[in-house]
Amino acid sequence: MRNVILTGFMGTGKSSVGKLLATELGFRFRDLDEMIESIENLTINEVFEKYGEGHFRSLEEAVVRSLSDAERMVLSTGGGAVISRKNRAVFRSIGCIVNLTASPEMIVERLEHDDRRPLLKGSKSRETIEKLMRARESFYADADIRIDTTGKKLEDVTREILLFLEGRD
Ligand code: S3P
Repeated sequence: MRNVILTGFMGTGKSSVGKLLATELGFRFRDLDEMIESIENLTINEVFEKYGEGHFRSLEEAVVRSLSDAERMVLSTGGGAVISRKNRAVFRSIGCIVNLTASPEMIVERLEHDDRRPLLKGSKSRETIEKLMRARESFYADADIRIDTTGKKLEDVTREILLFLEGRD
């Protein structure tokens, strides 16, 4: 297994799980949003404000494309990265796709005091989150394994992923 790609809605724990998973595997950790922020020298909020979502999605695709030769990496993707067919193809070709899920209620709770999600600026209600989740469901379902993180500790989620990966090797 060359790489592990973590997909999932905002607030499903991709970055925290990804860091721990990378440590356990001895892989390096990469966060797609952080890569975009450092290339642009702007926060994700600022990229959306200054250039709009379309530009952000192009940057996202460019960064994903640049990872086509990556090895021994755990990649935490932004919640919308799977919308792009091109991104999904790269993810499929470079490794194992692990999709993290959580109930809308859990996501509301986790993101309550978080202002770093431009798409939830208008509303962070359960309804808004459910609607966006439903629209993306088929993209999230395109994974090797799906793990529900609702109410779970990140160590337990990481262990579930490690067990799955051991079973595959
Ligand atoms: C987005 C999720 C965010 C970030 C951007 C757009 C989305 O990443 O990429 O705000 O479309 O769901 P996280 O999933 O890490 O919050």
